[in-house]
Amino acid sequence: MDDRVAADQPTEPRGEPAQAGSARGKFITFEGGEGTGKSTQAATLARRLESMGVGVLLTREPGGSPGAEIIRHVLLSGAAKPFGPEAEAMLFAAAREDHIKCAIEPALEASKWVVCDRFADSTRVYQGAVGAVDPRLIKALERVSVGELKPDLTFILDVPVTTGLQRAAGRRRGSQPDRFEGEQLEFHEKLRRAYLALAEAEPERCVVIDASMSKKEVAKRVWNAVNARLDPAMSPMIYENLAR
Ligand code: TYD
Repeated sequence: MDDRVAADQPTEPRGEPAQAGSARGKFITFEGGEGTGKSTQAATLARRLESMGVGVLLTREPGGSPGAEIIRHVLLSGAAKPFGPEAEAMLFAAAREDHIKCAIEPALEASKWVVCDRFADSTRVYQGAVGAVDPRLIKALERVSVGELKPDLTFILDVPVTTGLQRAAGRRRGSQPDRFEGEQLEFHEKLRRAYLALAEAEPERCVVIDASMSKKEVAKRVWNAVNARLDPAMSPMIYENLAR
């Protein structure tokens, strides 16, 4: 049975599988505010792709490479907060540049699919739309750190702010909120609105998913959208693995 959601029709025609090793992998990112379940959904999608023979790099930002993990610690501990949102934006960009160079690009080149928990949209939203960093700086940083790389598909997981914050608090089990979780409710409301505006501006790349549903239902919708838009069954890597 074809249970694809109607809104997720393929954006590109399907063709013959590419020759093994000839095609870059696909790049999928998960975005959203705090406690939206991105990490769980990214891991579930990665396992599902792997189970059908697609090679996957499951990664996250800030972090994902040894250099970027060091910057992650500086950012999430709040150590960079006194320098202001511009400096934080620069640090996120520096971490991203290292992550792309050391992990994301090599994986895509090797025909792997990259599933990334947060990427450049997080800087656009947290530092740009909400942190009020000059859009020209956000653009310039993105140009320098990301260049031409663009996700093939971005999931924006959307939940009411209070639900997200409750989930994030439950996950922490009494430990201190990190640099961004500790912000006021208004900050999180702005985040949510900014993500929805971003999705509206780029519907060809972004799919908004109501993440207040069960994990299983969210995973099903994610999987339907991946199949409808990117067709993992055509991944050259599957054919490569079958030939072994
Ligand atoms: P993390 O512990 O990975 O939490 P989450 O589950 O919310 O992703 O924390 C990453 C935090 O960093 C999160 O609050 C969002 C923030 N962030 C930015 O502000 N800008 C960025 O570019 C990125 C990648 C993350």
